Amino acid sequence: MTSETDGAARRIARWQQRAGRHHLPWQGTRDPYRIWLSEIMLQQTQAATVIPYYERFLAAFPDVRALADAPADAVMHAWAGLGYYARARNLQRCAQTVRDRHGCRFPEDPEALAELPGIGPSTAAAIAAFAFGARRPILDGNVRRVLARYFAVEGDPASSAVVRRLWDHAHALLADAPPDLDMRAYTQGQMDLGAMVCTRRKPDCARCPLAADCQARLQGRQHELPSPRARRARPERDGLMLILECAGRILLRKRPPTGIWGGLWSLPQFETSAELRAACAALAPGAGAPVALAAFDHEFTHFRLRIAPWRLHCRGEPTPPAPGEAWTPVAELDRLGLPAPVARLLVGLYTATRP
Ligand code: ADE
Repeated sequence: MTSETDGAARRIARWQQRAGRHHLPWQGTRDPYRIWLSEIMLQQTQAATVIPYYERFLAAFPDVRALADAPADAVMHAWAGLGYYARARNLQRCAQTVRDRHGCRFPEDPEALAELPGIGPSTAAAIAAFAFGARRPILDGNVRRVLARYFAVEGDPASSAVVRRLWDHAHALLADAPPDLDMRAYTQGQMDLGAMVCTRRKPDCARCPLAADCQARLQGRQHELPSPRARRARPERDGLMLILECAGRILLRKRPPTGIWGGLWSLPQFETSAELRAACAALAPGAGAPVALAAFDHEFTHFRLRIAPWRLHCRGEPTPPAPGEAWTPVAELDRLGLPAPVARLLVGLYTATRP
């Protein structure tokens, strides 16, 4: 049973065993591949969203070799919709590094894990704790909030000075913990506390194993801490997208490997209508002028993209595609890893008004 005289780490581990989450699909395994995959998917995405992707991904790529050897497009397709596509590119680079440098076995040492693409110190510690029982602190977004409240740490929780202080606290909690601390329960418990109890808007202190000595609660400041992030205005950008259709096919272009939607197939995109019209004249001479469809916004973390779609039907056969282009049959669009707003746009057009 949890006792108030236990240190915070023991209370978190015991609370997790009693009241935490136990049926997530990546629990109950010690397979580092499955654990690593879940931790990468969970880096910026909530568990409920991740679950169906995780299951589909494992069905398609059941082990690290299958993922390392897969065509990049197949990986992008399985990832499409989870966003933050750099994660998907790093995911496959990581699988290839584990295949080529570690004989398809994930290293046990958290420092070696943290050298792999896409794995930072907190993710490395979580993988090492879940797969190998390693004793390392974690500090993901949820845990930052829990510790900022427990220790009443002021300041922007994303700033490097505050993050450094929170890491110090995370190390100290573990240094003070008994040697037989269950690291799997402790690690999962910190995540579960942040997701289930110490939530951003409605901390439920009555259910919290840290309530007795939580500094934010004792000061009545659990709604004020962590301090709000310094707000920056989100800039807006315009993206004109061309839906060029020819003989039941749509012209797609592969995005450059870095930047938004890096490596995904998408519609040809332009910054100005003059560029878009010039491309129409070159790609579909004699097809006439493209028609503007209703514009809509897509939010990224750092900016808002105003997407203005334009549509043009050309007659006859498509021109031969340039490198990085593909004329894709309308019926096959959903097989590619298109960016979510582009997929929605095309599904809306071609399921409602298939010509
Ligand atoms: N977020 C990050 N890692 C997680 C995990 N193992 N379970 C639930 N949520 C998480």
